[in-house]
Amino acid sequence: MLREAWWWLSTPCPPWARGLGLLAESCAIGARARRCAEHWAGHRARCQELIAAHAPAGGRVAVLGSGWLLDVPVAALAARCATVALVDAVHPAPARRAARAHPRLRLVTADLSGAGPALWAARGERLLPAVRPPGWADLGLEPPDLAVSALLLSQLPLAPLGWLERQGAAPAPAAREGFRAEVQRGHLALLRAARAWLLLTDVNANGAPLLAGVELPEPLAEWDWPVAPAGEAGATAVVHRVRAYAGGQSTAC
Ligand SMILES: C[S@@+](CC[C@H](N)C(=O)[O-])C[C@H]1O[C@@H](n2cnc3c(N)ncnc32)[C@H](O)[C@@H]1O
Repeated sequence: MLREAWWWLSTPCPPWARGLGLLAESCAIGARARRCAEHWAGHRARCQELIAAHAPAGGRVAVLGSGWLLDVPVAALAARCATVALVDAVHPAPARRAARAHPRLRLVTADLSGAGPALWAARGERLLPAVRPPGWADLGLEPPDLAVSALLLSQLPLAPLGWLERQGAAPAPAAREGFRAEVQRGHLALLRAARAWLLLTDVNANGAPLLAGVELPEPLAEWDWPVAPAGEAGATAVVHRVRAYAGGQSTAC
């Protein structure tokens, strides 16, 4: 608890991300990753292997939802690729340390939902804003040779919806589903504008769907991620089904 409080105080973060609860969520993920290290090891290894296998030698990579770099083989990417942009709303200490250690790594702090800063700017209205998904130019990046989405897609709608709920202004179920679909489709459009893409995403949590009406190709691989053993987040264990998808013109060797 003390460690999480220190992370919350010491991690730089834009006001909208702090306000909507993304910083607190990032600290909670870091703490759970430590508590559940054994349970998460297999999932993390699968993600890292897939990302490393798709890394284009000498190419430009963007990792969306880089977070704590739990799923990201950052040293391998920095050794193999010309540039690696780590894109997230919150960059915890391990990501900031990695960027200092590897000159080819760059941190990009940005909203990837297309809704966070607008919701925060008009927070008095307590309404879902129009979704304006970012393009590569909005992130200050050229479309990369490989865009990796690292366990982000299901998370993108959560902070805006969670904040509205905490304000007692939860959208009606249809508006909520429409928002999830728009945000998630916008993210897929960003990936598809890269030369090649690798999407790692959880698709259900204990069987409950996490994606809203998005069209995806056949998965390359799938596995279970034991997110929380019984007792960690309630009486029953929480298991997410994770799938990996890829598209575009692969440049990996
Ligand atoms: C489950 S974590 C991903 C873990 C990460 N791939 C890793 O290896 O540590 C989800 C990530 O999505 C980021 N995120 C959630 N909503 C976001 C948004 N609107 N814009 C940018 N990043 C966001 C969070 O900050 C968090 O780092």
